[in-house]
Amino acid sequence: MIDIALLEKYNVPVPRYTSYPTVPNWQENIDIQQWKDIFSIDYKASKGISLYIHLPFCESMCTYCGCNKKITTNHSVEDDYINAILKEWQLYAQLMNEKPVIRELHLGGGTPTFFSPANLERLLSGIFDQATIHPDHEFSFEGHPNNTTREHLQQLYDLGFRRVSFGIQDNDPEVQRIINRIQPLEQVKYVTGVARSIGYKSVNYDLIYGLPHQSLKSITTTIQQTIALKPDRIAFYSYAHVPWTSRGQRLFDENDLPSASEKLQLYQTGKTLFLQNGYYDIGMDHFSLPTDDLYKASVQGKLHRNFMGYTTQSGDILLGLGVSAISGTKNAFAQNAKTIHNYYNLINSGNLAIEKGYFLTKEDIQFGKYILDVSCRGNTVIPEEDMDTVNTFCLPELNNLEADGLITFRDRKLVVTPLGRNFTRNICSAFDLYLQKTKATKEKRLFSNAI
Ligand SMILES: C[S@@+](CC[C@H](N)C(=O)[O-])C[C@H]1O[C@@H](n2cnc3c(N)ncnc32)[C@H](O)[C@@H]1O
Ligand code: SF4
Repeated sequence: MIDIALLEKYNVPVPRYTSYPTVPNWQENIDIQQWKDIFSIDYKASKGISLYIHLPFCESMCTYCGCNKKITTNHSVEDDYINAILKEWQLYAQLMNEKPVIRELHLGGGTPTFFSPANLERLLSGIFDQATIHPDHEFSFEGHPNNTTREHLQQLYDLGFRRVSFGIQDNDPEVQRIINRIQPLEQVKYVTGVARSIGYKSVNYDLIYGLPHQSLKSITTTIQQTIALKPDRIAFYSYAHVPWTSRGQRLFDENDLPSASEKLQLYQTGKTLFLQNGYYDIGMDHFSLPTDDLYKASVQGKLHRNFMGYTTQSGDILLGLGVSAISGTKNAFAQNAKTIHNYYNLINSGNLAIEKGYFLTKEDIQFGKYILDVSCRGNTVIPEEDMDTVNTFCLPELNNLEADGLITFRDRKLVVTPLGRNFTRNICSAFDLYLQKTKATKEKRLFSNAI
């Protein structure tokens, strides 16, 4: 058990570091031609792309949800959206000058399984017609247990998908009522069984701690039920309460949320149960069975992290298609328009749909590497040339972390201690020059708390 006082001390707003610099530091209205040029150059030097496709529609609104989604029961929206994605793909294909090699593909949302299996087939065939699929490809998708059918699972399997991630969140009926997500455990068991029988090699469950009306008793039951179904991976997310951007979160009373110390106990309880039942802590909210590729990559030091979270492939190019999707190359980031209306307007007039982005400096690339090292490998070495900057901006926080036993920092080498693994986000933040240079950012509450 981790000391509650230590958990409380580090429970401050910090980013998840799926990019560095983080999105709030990017700029509006970037030079699109510059982005295209960098994309082309970085693509030529890469060994293939990771593709993310954002499918934003959901049939009903889960009140806790912080994702970019559009609630509708009208399925005729599928066609226009697929057409727009395929147009966007054509625009990028022109920048790559050949059939791009796809190493990794993830369908996220929203709810990808909102789309019919036939429409998913149309979308993906349109993408694959313009691509070469790498023999060691990793294809995955997010499935909502309530609307993932055997046909979805079979269709996507036939298209090369071998990993599925189900949003579970919580099995307790009272929690499900208040988050507006009634999802019978029987349904979860059913879709998991079907995925396995079809041949999916990795099933992930998303769980959230800190939801309204969750208690130690209810989360213990949810986790025991989860462990009994043996998902290969578990993402155990801290509920991010950001009602200023996610309006659904205003639909429940903040008094229904667990207090900060109760939330920490929910986390402790969950983590202890996972570790006692054969799961390994991969880092930043993720647990995995030792048989899963994510665990194997982590012990081999081959883990990578991008906007899709932890991955086993370390492609230099992530291309995000669809509303709000984020792309990243070695030297730049870009994010698409966040409303479907703006996304359609841009794509249908023949333009990329980029609304904001960032061109990296040499310093960004260096410090981004230290953050990636800490989050994926638990250690990093700072070259002599960066020690002045580290001493000026990072050392106060590094000293603090060392005094609390979370890291050792000797002879320019930082090593995360076993205790420190619980505070990976905080340790990464020591190398976030934007945060360290303006500690005042803390006051702005741009991010949710670390735990
Ligand atoms: C983009 S959602 C897609 C999952 C799919 N639509 C479903 O609900 O089954 C991916 C995951 O983000 C997590 N998530 C969404 N809102 C969150 C929040 N406010 N705090 C923490 N995690 C959140 C949930 O665990 C969810 O399964
Ligand atoms: S959690 Fe999933 S299904 Fe629920 S609103 Fe968010 S994206 Fe849609």
